[in-house]
Amino acid sequence: MEYKTVESLEILRKEATAEFEAIASEQNAENFRVKYLGKKGVLRDLMKSLGAMSPEDRKTFGAAANELRADIEGRFNDAPWQNKTGASSTDAGFDPTLPGYPFPSGSLHPLMKIRDEIRNIFVSMGFSIAYGPEVESDYYNFQALNMPPFHPARDMQDTFYIDEKTVLRTHTSPVQIRVMENVKPPIRAIMPGRVYRNEEISARSYCLFHQIEGLYVDENVSFSDLKGTLLAFSRRFFDEKTHIKIRPSYFPFTEPSVEVDVECFLCKGKGCSICKQSGWLEILGAGMVHPNVFKYCGIDPEKYTGFAFGMGIERIALLKYGIDDIRLFYENDARFLKQF
Ligand code: DAH
Repeated sequence: MEYKTVESLEILRKEATAEFEAIASEQNAENFRVKYLGKKGVLRDLMKSLGAMSPEDRKTFGAAANELRADIEGRFNDAPWQNKTGASSTDAGFDPTLPGYPFPSGSLHPLMKIRDEIRNIFVSMGFSIAYGPEVESDYYNFQALNMPPFHPARDMQDTFYIDEKTVLRTHTSPVQIRVMENVKPPIRAIMPGRVYRNEEISARSYCLFHQIEGLYVDENVSFSDLKGTLLAFSRRFFDEKTHIKIRPSYFPFTEPSVEVDVECFLCKGKGCSICKQSGWLEILGAGMVHPNVFKYCGIDPEKYTGFAFGMGIERIALLKYGIDDIRLFYENDARFLKQF
């Protein structure tokens, strides 16, 4: 582009400003200096156009060009990352008090934010954190969780098989088994991680998602400990006055088993579109650890009792942020991710 009018100088000012603001390294800064302020830089080149202008144009254009150069030069020299001590860049001296170059910074993915929030609440209650493999054996994913071959509950899980004895874990519950095999009670652990299910992809389900599993095993752990823990969690995470509702359910690895609803945090139980007018949101499955599961792990079910729970992170994030399509979490669209 040739700059021959005062208007065109404003375009140049905009371009240079955008480039100036994007400077994120010493190399960027040097490139900027050469391009705009150097001997053959764009701003010096402007004066070459003066020769062909009428005396009047020369006056206005020349003044505007000088002003533009002073503006850009001034901002460049005053930038916070310039060496204010006046030492040249070849100077061996290094001033650690200078502000750094601005870096465009990323942010945590919304799912990881929710995961950390949930995790921190349980950690503050004394739970430790455990992890297990995503490629899991049939034994840990099903068998030791009281789902022997041909158990009907296996069908509900839409499993990705790697071979006959190996699966992509369909839930984080197998990590419970790994923890109980390795740690003597008392056990208090949460187990976050990614799980996989061969479900049709839609706004409500995706082939992978995240869960957080919880486990508490000791002598005399009772169902009221489960209730108290989940109520305390819900009041920290959702709303300090929230109520929870516990409904009977079925999981092979817990007896009794329950599903837990939390009072809708948006309408406070009155009924709205998020809670489908019911006033309640289902957030997790839970129950008292089944004696068979203890036996698989070598823990004496006569001596110890325990509770377990598992919740889906996507589901909670959808509810908390009012998002209506789970696929958004996996598209890495910066316009979506920047909102959190
Ligand atoms: N693993 C279950 C699922 O993915 C969730 C669950 C239910 C986990 C009850 C538990 C539990 O620990 O006690 O659907």
